[in-house]
Amino acid sequence: MKVLVTGGAGYIGSVCTRLLVDAGYEVVVIDNLAHGHRSAVTPSARLVIADLGDAAALDRVIMQEKPDAVMHFAGRIEVEESMRQPDLYFYTNVACGINLLNSCLRYRVNRFIFSSTAAVYGVPETVPLTEEMPRNPANPYGASKMIFEQLLEAYSRAGNLRYCTLRYFNVAGAYAGLGEDHRPETHLIPRILRSVLNPGETFRIYGEDYPTPDGTCIRDYIHVYDLARAHLLALQALGERNLVYNLGSERGYSVREVFATAEKVTGREIKYEIAPRRPGDVPVLVASARKIRTELGWQPQLTLEDMLRDAWEWHQKHPRGYPD
Ligand code: UFG
Repeated sequence: MKVLVTGGAGYIGSVCTRLLVDAGYEVVVIDNLAHGHRSAVTPSARLVIADLGDAAALDRVIMQEKPDAVMHFAGRIEVEESMRQPDLYFYTNVACGINLLNSCLRYRVNRFIFSSTAAVYGVPETVPLTEEMPRNPANPYGASKMIFEQLLEAYSRAGNLRYCTLRYFNVAGAYAGLGEDHRPETHLIPRILRSVLNPGETFRIYGEDYPTPDGTCIRDYIHVYDLARAHLLALQALGERNLVYNLGSERGYSVREVFATAEKVTGREIKYEIAPRRPGDVPVLVASARKIRTELGWQPQLTLEDMLRDAWEWHQKHPRGYPD
């Protein structure tokens, strides 16, 4: 089976590409390398450098490659940036996504796995979050992902497309030499670890006045390897029915708890400052992953400490990130 992976040079896309290749799938990666890294693409996958904004290029790739399925990772992912520049989010995550859906429709690619996000839920009334809870995004990033989920529903109703929407909670860790290298880096775990490696970068906690036990935001962290495994299960399970699953570990950790785990794993006392809240952040996000556990038999195998240990090892080996 051949799988087209958009954004396969990025953090999560590269790990999924690696797992797909190892499981015997033929993989074609499409990435514009704006945020991805050439050296993150497993050599046995084919890399096509193209932009999803270029509908004609996309058509050519899909017509030539004739993939059996698409895994769509390419997109913008930062809550705060989306508050400042919502247009970028609606263009990349919605308009470019429509190009991809149209190419799939034209060339009859009927299996689609989509990287969605916990941010579609907005500020939850209760946690853990189940898939049936209303989508009510609190920022343009979450809104752009929700709109694409709705587009998938509409394209599926109009034709033969079958999709699996995977709503990621907070992904962390590294796998098989593939780690997190966003530029600029905004995510919690790499930010903490980079402040250890670069003493000039002081780590900041964004807000300690949230309605949580220690005042810092609570998130549900999932290891990138566990997340990637779920994609392979989803691909195998995709048949007549469309699927929607949360992907989290079902445990919430505050920013301070993650920070304490980082100090434990690195064996260092890490400096920090308290900074104002970051626009767009919600106080608590914790998943119920019962649906994917019961329907697909998926279980997270790795803990927050594993994520920090693997990320720490990767950052020490790649203090400046990927070479390219
Ligand atoms: N944080 C800090 N200091 C930092 C970086 C982050 O205190 O330097 C805090 C944030 O304010 C937030 C928490 O750490 O409370 C997690 O922040 P991240 O930036 O690591 O992740 P987000 O929760 O904002 O978003 C991530 C992904 C989204 C996904 C979401 C789902 O980037 O794509 O998780 O929960 F939608």
